[in-house]
Amino acid sequence: MGLQNVSETYQVEREPADPANTPVHSLTPPVNLTDPEVFSRHGGYTFDAFTQMRNEAPVIWHPEEFGAGFWAVSSYELVKKVELDPATYSSQTGGILISYGVEDAPRHPLLHNASLNTLICLDRPHHTPLRMEHMAFFRAGYVAELRKKVDLFVKERLDAMEQAGPIVDMVEMFSAELPLFTLCEILGVPDADRPKLVHWMHYLENAQYQAQQEGLGNLEPEQIMTFMNEIQAMFDYGRDLLEKRRKDPQNDLLSAIANVKIDGELLSPEFLDGSWLLIIFAGNDTTRNSLSGTMKLLTAFPDQRQKLLDNPDLFPNFVHEAIRMVSPVTYMRRTAIKDTVLGEQPIAVGEKVVMYYPAANRDPAKFPNPDQMDITRENAKEHLAFGNGPHVCLGQRVANMQLEAAYRQILGRFPNVRWTGNGSLAPNNFVHAISALEIDLG
Ligand code: HEM
Repeated sequence: MGLQNVSETYQVEREPADPANTPVHSLTPPVNLTDPEVFSRHGGYTFDAFTQMRNEAPVIWHPEEFGAGFWAVSSYELVKKVELDPATYSSQTGGILISYGVEDAPRHPLLHNASLNTLICLDRPHHTPLRMEHMAFFRAGYVAELRKKVDLFVKERLDAMEQAGPIVDMVEMFSAELPLFTLCEILGVPDADRPKLVHWMHYLENAQYQAQQEGLGNLEPEQIMTFMNEIQAMFDYGRDLLEKRRKDPQNDLLSAIANVKIDGELLSPEFLDGSWLLIIFAGNDTTRNSLSGTMKLLTAFPDQRQKLLDNPDLFPNFVHEAIRMVSPVTYMRRTAIKDTVLGEQPIAVGEKVVMYYPAANRDPAKFPNPDQMDITRENAKEHLAFGNGPHVCLGQRVANMQLEAAYRQILGRFPNVRWTGNGSLAPNNFVHAISALEIDLG
């Protein structure tokens, strides 16, 4: 049987407001993890809340006002257990976002369908062959070649920053630019069209924040119309490019996606939209926020910065430690497709299970003294910021490479660079969204 449209299968039979089994731990969630402002209000992740959850209830029942409640998982061991057991915890039955299944969630149908009909929301058997088709563009050899272009781009951005400096917004001048450049290279977006992609990404993020702050219902009709048109234009562009690559394949990821056959069939328009959306979103926000978040860490831990300047061989491990501590993706959701027990907690078929990566990555049972940046930490690489198991981040090499390329040059040119303390976080409970970061190049 060919690929099914995931949007038609995402409703599970039972989406309970209350769990079938009594929670074994009595703690109630210390913060509302479904609130988009839960992190921005506190200036970053609510690590105290995560620590309390991990200590007192590593699997805790979290109610959801408008849809399914879920089990929130916060320890390293149990997050990894969920990741490694796709036969129990499905990505396809229900999808990976908390908002799926919430009846009244305001959503754009095209965006919503595309976000479900993707690699990241598939289980076996279809997940594996589709993932394999992407692999050529994420292997070490390809990424090493890509690094050369990234190095040049980083140099250009730093030249521009130096000219505008010494005080600049790192997000605007650097972190928002580099991931999009890299993605366009991998996908094969022609140079002339790249400004369009930059425009859509910026527009969609701003529109999303505006909608969250003002409430969708309060937007002017013209604003809603512009939003619909921009999304349509973004998908039309993606479809057009994929269509061209079907007829005339090139050596790029879009050609691979356009021509992949699953069970003998080319991808449907829904999966083409979904594949386009997944790569431009998965590789963008995440890398951007790890670039900015790392600047905050280097400012907070000047001894570690000095250690790195003294010993550049530590760069690869510095990157693992930085990504462990930033953990730019907050969570991924799964749905139990059979009755099971996680830790001590019985979980019933159909219930949602949400893995909190920043909590797992600060688990002292795995990472002693977890709030201390230690660029020589021996197991830093074992962090779960990229997930684990069959869905482990396809772009992790690309992300690590960009962080290393960026900071080798940033610290080489501006060894005293620091965050001034000014900046902003956007309301977002899915990624750690640093929307502005003022830095002093020194
Ligand atoms: C620091 C940067 C990044 C972080 C923290 C990150 C994190 C993640 C996480 C948590 C997942 C889900 C893993 C799971 O469910 O087990 C994921 C999946 C994925 N990521 Fe990333 N990501 C990053 C950068 C990138 C980049 C640069 C790309 C592409 C160029 C990318 C492409 C993908 C794709 C395609 C998937 C889906 C894989 C699958 O379902 O098989 N990511 N990422």
